[in-house]
Parts: sequence; structure tokens; C-alpha cells
Amino acid sequence: MLEIKNLHVEVEGKKILNGLNLTLKKGEVAAIMGPNGSGKSTLSYVIAGKEDYEITEGDILLNGESILEMEPNERAAAGLFLCFQYPLEIPGVATMTFLKAAMNAQRKARGEAELTPGEFMKAVRAAAEKLGINPDFLKRPLNVGFSGGEKKRMEILQMTLLNPAFAILDETDSGLDIDALRIVSEGVNAMRSADRGMLVITHYQRLLDHIVPDVVHVMAKGRIVKSGGPEIALELEKNGYADYIEAA
Ligand SMILES: Nc1ncnc2c1ncn2[C@@H]1O[C@H](COP(=O)(O)OP(=O)(O)OP(=O)(O)O)[C@@H](O)[C@H]1O
Ligand SMILES: [Mg+2]
Repeated sequence: MLEIKNLHVEVEGKKILNGLNLTLKKGEVAAIMGPNGSGKSTLSYVIAGKEDYEITEGDILLNGESILEMEPNERAAAGLFLCFQYPLEIPGVATMTFLKAAMNAQRKARGEAELTPGEFMKAVRAAAEKLGINPDFLKRPLNVGFSGGEKKRMEILQMTLLNPAFAILDETDSGLDIDALRIVSEGVNAMRSADRGMLVITHYQRLLDHIVPDVVHVMAKGRIVKSGGPEIALELEKNGYADYIEAA
């Protein structure tokens, strides 16, 4: 459903993605592992439509149609969702207000009616409870002063509520304590479905014990250099990236 073809991307004249090819299928959870600086976050930003990235060659297709000309909000309405590696703090915007605006904007774009305040509260409370998020948090400005792990849980809460067709999780495991890792993984696993694709970017096999991926891709120097089953993650844990970097 999400096809990335020969993608070349530059930032400020620096080449970061180098002819990347990747097909992510509906119903599958794919994992990307790769050394620091190999371009994993860049790939997720380019898919989400963040500006500042120059696509010099290649295409990204969602269900067969190019998304390159779409604005980030149009991509979100089409069902793309990105959990940030470093979630932004937004002072002055209460988390609740933000969640409601995000949900209603998507519903509007899909031609659905806005949620009533009652429906919204019910959905948020249920999702927050499942993820072990204290409801008092939702009154605070979005992510402001939240600990690293609390921000990551908030990302998963947003994902749960927005119910995307395709979700990308960029290092959602970093900074989580052992219990939070389990809770967040359960949140992600609960979203696995035949109609949804997911891409999990991680450095650690540990996360993949909880969220067992269907496929694992190894990224090095701006392209995918190997794809296979979960056994690749185990092998990487043992041997590191040296062979892949050399091959790339
Ligand atoms: N705005 C920018 N200006 C200059 N270089 C950039 C910019 N954004 C990204 N890069 C560079 O692009 C490369 C890829 O960065 P990216 O964040 O995609 O790596 P990553 O694979 O996500 O790494 P990590 O595992 O550390 O999160 C890095 O060398 C980074 O310094
Ligand atoms: Mg990154």
C-alpha cells in the first residue's frame, strides 16, 4: 500500500536518501533498523511531508497514487500518521484541545461529522486508560514538561485516536521504562489489523520481542540494504552493522 521508489533526498545540498526502495504492505508490521545517521528519521519525515527536504528523484505512492504533491495535513487525512522520535512541545495548547482538533480535522477531510464533546471525552478517556496515562495530563499543554516516556505514550494515544491507515513509529521505544515499553507495545499490537500498515523504526531487538514484525529491513547510507524476517534483528544484535555499512 505504501511504495517508495528510488527515493533520493537532499537537505541543504547534503544527500541523505540514496535511491531507497521499499514496499510496505497493508496488514503488515515492518521494522527498519539501521545505524545512527543512516536516514531513518529523514525517511519518516519525507513520508509525512515535512518541508526542507528536497526530493531529487523517485516517488512515494500511497495505494498507487503519488503523495509528493500533498500537504502534510492532506497526507494525514489520507491516513498517514507519524509518531515522532522527538515529540514537539506545544506551549499554550491544551492536550485535549489538540487531540480534538486533530480528530475533527481528519473527520472533516473524510466528510464525516465532528465528534460531540461526549463522544470525544469517552474515546480519549478509554484510550488514555489503556495506555496508563493519567487524565490530569490531558489538561496540560501538549508535551510541555512531559518526561521522555510520557511524550512517547502521548504519541501512541494520538495514534490510537486517529486510527490511521498507515502508521510510522520512529524510535517509540527510546526512553521508555520497562513497564511503559510493554504498555506502548500493547497499544501498538492492539492496532495491528488487516487494513492497516505499520512501520516501526527501532535500534533494539528488545522492542521487536513485544511487537513481532512481519518483515525487517536494514537501512544503511540512505537505502535499504537487506530485507527478511525477524531473525535479521537477532543477527544484528549479535554482529552489528559493519557488514551492511561496507556493502552499502
Ligand atoms: N536539516 C539537516 N541539515 C543537515 N543535515 C541533516 C539535516 N537533517 C538530517 N541531516 C543529516 O542526515 C543524516 C540522516 O539523519 P536521520 O535523522 O535521518 O538519521 P537516523 O537514521 O534517523 O539516525 P538515528 O538512528 O540517530 O535517529 C544525518 O547525518 C543527519 O545529520
Ligand atoms: Mg532517527
